[in-house]
Amino acid sequence: MTPTDAPPDIAGRLLRWYDRHGRKSLPWRCARDPYPIWVAEIMLQQTQVGTVTPYYRRFMARFPDLAALACCDADELLHYWSGLGYYARARNLHAAARQIADLHGGRFPARFDQVLALPGIGRSTAGAILAFAFGQRHPILDGNVKRVLSRYCAVKGHPGAARVQARLWQIADRLTPEKRVADYTQALMDLGATVCVHARPLCTICPLAADCRACQMGKPAAFPEPKPKPASARPRKAVTMLIVRNRGAELLLVKRPPSGIWGGLWSLPEYEHRARPAPAQPTPAQRRRIEEWCERRLGVAVKTGKPLPIMTHSFTHFDLDILPLPARCTAGGGSVMDAQQYLWYNPSSPAQVGVPAAVKRILGRLNES
Ligand code: ADE
Repeated sequence: MTPTDAPPDIAGRLLRWYDRHGRKSLPWRCARDPYPIWVAEIMLQQTQVGTVTPYYRRFMARFPDLAALACCDADELLHYWSGLGYYARARNLHAAARQIADLHGGRFPARFDQVLALPGIGRSTAGAILAFAFGQRHPILDGNVKRVLSRYCAVKGHPGAARVQARLWQIADRLTPEKRVADYTQALMDLGATVCVHARPLCTICPLAADCRACQMGKPAAFPEPKPKPASARPRKAVTMLIVRNRGAELLLVKRPPSGIWGGLWSLPEYEHRARPAPAQPTPAQRRRIEEWCERRLGVAVKTGKPLPIMTHSFTHFDLDILPLPARCTAGGGSVMDAQQYLWYNPSSPAQVGVPAAVKRILGRLNES
């Protein structure tokens, strides 16, 4: 057996461990219906169980079945997703629900190729849904499982590299048992989340330690290998966000384009500075330009006030420095605005629309200042 050849029975050990220590009471684990399982798997794609659980419960109370999701309004869906981040997941969920209504008569498909064809579902998520809902045998390879298998077989290289990924899929496939696939799948996820953790793996209590190559080498945390560092630093962008308040103390929100960062969410109007980086304190000339821009583009005459401290928000591929700049309407305002694109938002009785968590944080600071 070569170092990366997996021995035959990790399933037995994993299942025995799962029977004693696994997370069997997760709300989506009680389901056999693919719909709640699918919703949970999408929420869990980039977010941990503890964060997901309250969102999941609220979501399922409002959208209890595929029909409710397929016919809902995108704004309302994004409202229920607000704060979970990675909003493309919500948009894909919505598009997939409609696709299921159109192509599969409103029933979640049970064939791997049909599930994989739905927006927002990759190979690992498709496998997990079918294993949990129907007990079908499919390997999975999410982030936690990549870590477990990289260590167990001491796989060299970064799991993002195509060659390494292919190798990990091969291992995942070979290890997946024929029986109790749903429990095995959950066991592997649970082991990655609670024992084979990122920084200090708990090898002394791991059911796979006896033949884990990384553990035998005495350096479990050295796997998976990190991504090679890019030559350039992480990009940084800057923007001024205007907190425009009318006389009724409502705030002006703008609907963002459907795709891209915060796609389809309602956010503060952004003023693009010609000079980079954006200033921490706008000069009188910059204030004048911003005020003219508000009148021209937003249809509101404003007077800008004292900026709040710059707030940095990290996206996957860059950091954004946000300068929140309050501005008061000097006239009634808003007459030329298109109601599809602009919204006067009352923070004390907020409309049911999706607002990015970073914007909510800014609005919270406004109350403190
Ligand atoms: N991460 C992805 N899917 C999961 C699941 N079913 N349970 C716990 N964590 C997960």
